[in-house]
Amino acid sequence: MSTIQVVSTITELHDSLGQARDSAALTGGDTRIVLVPTMGALHAGHLALVRRAHALGGIVVVSIFVNPLQFGAGEDLDSYPRTLDADLAALGAENVSFVFAPSAREMYPGGASDTRVTAGLVGSLYEGAERPGHFDGMLTVVAKLLGIVTPDVAVFGQKDGQQAFLVQRMVDDLNVRSTIEVVETVREPGGLALSSRNRYLDEAQHTAAQALFAALTAAVEAAPAGPAAALVAAHARIAAQPLVKLDYLVIVHPETLLAVHDDYRGPARLLVAARVGRTRLIDNVSLRLG
Ligand code: PAF
Repeated sequence: MSTIQVVSTITELHDSLGQARDSAALTGGDTRIVLVPTMGALHAGHLALVRRAHALGGIVVVSIFVNPLQFGAGEDLDSYPRTLDADLAALGAENVSFVFAPSAREMYPGGASDTRVTAGLVGSLYEGAERPGHFDGMLTVVAKLLGIVTPDVAVFGQKDGQQAFLVQRMVDDLNVRSTIEVVETVREPGGLALSSRNRYLDEAQHTAAQALFAALTAAVEAAPAGPAAALVAAHARIAAQPLVKLDYLVIVHPETLLAVHDDYRGPARLLVAARVGRTRLIDNVSLRLG
């Protein structure tokens, strides 16, 4: 277990990373920086991102910032779990050297930035339709974090598949010089994708929530018969769980994230979102149609 340096200002972060790079250079070590952006409330899914970051080499920085810009009115910004002590203990055990945990004032000294990154059409679909402005807020803070940390690589989870897609597209479109690495979803034994919001589920809801993964699995199995068959199979698994209120179930092209036509054959992704009680859950899987 190493000592973690927790820094809360951009100046401190730049000083610490400058020193870390200098000493790595002196000892012939890896001077690259790998960033894992998070909102804290860390679980095994985040730790998988951290492990991938370490495997990529270099100096690993984990950011912890609950970004107000990506929460809409009436969403869980105030109640979003904040567990800094437990997060730092978990990151210490993973040998993370640097945690950047800025205040909202440090990130948005003027209140909120007037300049925003816009997520475009894909940002208004699926999660974006349910949470207007969410992806603009998410991309804006990710752009700021990439600007502050200037990582060689930034690591994201596939669980938030639309987010990962939009971050990759932003980096391409805006010529940001960081590589985006996406890590496969970590699941409980019953298949439920790990999420900081799973802690809102009671026992019955938690069991019911496994229907999301059951739906994804059923769709993968039915996929050789085409998109319509895959959707029918997935819908049946969701319908079998009355506690799960489906929001959307859509098969998209992996390169555009737009819904595929029924005659489409080839690689695709199935995206699902549902509400279980007051908790909104999302998941996705890759599948091959036809
Ligand atoms: O996935 C998250 O936790 C957040 O959306 C991110 C990428 C840290 C931006 O606030």
